[in-house]
Amino acid sequence: MTRPRLVIGNWKMNPATLEEAVVLAHDRRATPHEGVGLGVAPPSIALPAVAVALRGSDVRVFAQDVHWAEKGAYTGQVAASMLRGLAFGTIVGHSEVRRDQGDDDARVAAKAGAAFRAGLHVIFCLGESLAERKRGETDAVLARQVRDGIGAIDRAALGDAGTLALAYEPIWAIGTGEAATGAQASAAVARLRSELTRQGLDGDAIPILYGGSVTGGNASEFARAEGVDGALVGGASLKQDEFAEIVAAFR
Ligand code: 13P
Repeated sequence: MTRPRLVIGNWKMNPATLEEAVVLAHDRRATPHEGVGLGVAPPSIALPAVAVALRGSDVRVFAQDVHWAEKGAYTGQVAASMLRGLAFGTIVGHSEVRRDQGDDDARVAAKAGAAFRAGLHVIFCLGESLAERKRGETDAVLARQVRDGIGAIDRAALGDAGTLALAYEPIWAIGTGEAATGAQASAAVARLRSELTRQGLDGDAIPILYGGSVTGGNASEFARAEGVDGALVGGASLKQDEFAEIVAAFR
């Protein structure tokens, strides 16, 4: 099974200004990435400027989140339809959004459904906390997140597996400098694929990225890790040289 290799930079609430976001987008245009699908996920306010900066390139633009409703009284939120013409896809289920906005599996499923209905690709994030890993609950947490999250996405909206990718992001590895090992990532990815298959999806066809303290120094470990198809990169995606090293590792 040949799945696409993908490296996507999640800029989170960075950089500080729109001007810097445009500079970063132009850097990405110049990042050699033959054989790797390259993406950026800027803050929503920067999406229009970044989309313009990347027009005519094959670098894909992603939103960092999307609302589950089509429209309405949801102050501060962005509906999937509003991303048309700006974004190729969206992240949903990032642990920072789950943490700060109270998203649970059902809500992440509803967000993914809304994104699919608007024709967007979806990067569905999941992963266990440190406490869950220490209690030996990693497999159970991942199984639950697939069952109650991905398994609950409206099947008509889900469409074909080509529009869905997963990002295994153990919460303890995000922004901590303490990445998982390649072996830990492979084990989690294998678990996710078997749960996807249990949900009636083709687990072998769905790309799964690793995210959590990926750097230029450790990217090759994940590029070599069985079943890992790419990286969702936070902090290092803001540094041109380091991000280019990460992309090179997956080529
Ligand atoms: P860091 O690469 O900064 O650890 O963030 C990972 C992440 O959360 C990507 O979505």
